[in-house]
Amino acid sequence: MKKKVYITGIAGLLGGGIAESLQKDFMVTGADLVKIDMRGVAYDVFDLCDRQALLDRIERTKPQVLVHTAAMVNVEQCEAEPEKTYRVNTELTETLAQICAEKNIKMIYISTDSVFDGEKKGMYTEEDAVNPLNVYAKSKYDGELAVSRCPHSLILRTNIYGINLQDKKSFGEWIVDSLREEKELFMFNDIFFSPILVSDLAEIISLCIKRELSGLYHACGTGSVSKYEFGMEVKKEFGYVNGVIRQALSQSMNFKAKRPKNMGMSNEKIRKALGIDIRTPKESVVEFHRRYLEKSEV
Ligand SMILES: NC(=O)c1ccc[n+]([C@@H]2O[C@H](COP(=O)([O-])OP(=O)(O)OC[C@H]3O[C@@H](n4cnc5c(N)ncnc54)[C@H](OP(=O)(O)O)[C@@H]3O)[C@@H](O)[C@H]2O)c1
Repeated sequence: MKKKVYITGIAGLLGGGIAESLQKDFMVTGADLVKIDMRGVAYDVFDLCDRQALLDRIERTKPQVLVHTAAMVNVEQCEAEPEKTYRVNTELTETLAQICAEKNIKMIYISTDSVFDGEKKGMYTEEDAVNPLNVYAKSKYDGELAVSRCPHSLILRTNIYGINLQDKKSFGEWIVDSLREEKELFMFNDIFFSPILVSDLAEIISLCIKRELSGLYHACGTGSVSKYEFGMEVKKEFGYVNGVIRQALSQSMNFKAKRPKNMGMSNEKIRKALGIDIRTPKESVVEFHRRYLEKSEV
């Protein structure tokens, strides 16, 4: 009998990617605010913050595993709407952790590289102290604290890019579409990160479920790049020579939310635990290109 996996935020960038990948080995369902066609995956459409509706759906579905991706992810919007952000990112996570603990469901929580303040020289490990700089980061870290009290839970800190099933653009899609439209892009050369392609993270999550991994791990690309370097790699791979990427400093943008400059994370712990290699951000751009072309043909 296949395990049942319930994915919150199943129509999102990551939720959709996980649903697609997990379908091979698991019975997949979940919930989102948005209804989209998901090729073979039926899911509930409702506000997960409605505690009674949530409890009803979980009791009816009886999943063995719950992957919690739903969140408010727009950092500027989170800064402007702290109450709503804490309700969605922290209180919902607390509720889910409580339900999972009571019903013996394995909870997998998707967290973020933004929990760090970016002051470290070098890559962040799971041992490093966190110091969230903005509302989004604080709300996600508070979610981590709740999940860490749930037995056998797994927390994966990440930074993702990939193909959206909805009509929204991920960071990678924004770069590609802008270059194709021959726009001039300004990308930060002072912000470093370790992005992973959604499909690669989905495969890792599948392995984590099969191996029953628990604890805290950085599930990101191997090594770190600046946003500018990443953009240039996308430009090279896609061959859009008429789009222009210029280097910029993050201080040139008038962001309301403070952002860490170094978000590079080491993924050594999860690579060792699962016995796998993970692509570097630059290597993964080749697979991103392949998937982007595949989507364009549909
Ligand atoms: N994107 C990144 O680079 C990144 C980096 C680090 C960590 N993460 C984490 O990865 C996870 C997934 O991010 P993502 O980029 O896939 O986000 P996303 O594309 O916005 O997906 C999240 C989905 O959850 C839905 N949702 C939000 N609140 C809900 C609610 N109350 N009830 C039901 N559904 C709700 C959203 O609907 P609406 O769109 O209608 O709100 C959206 O479809 C998040 O937990 C995020 O913190 C993302």
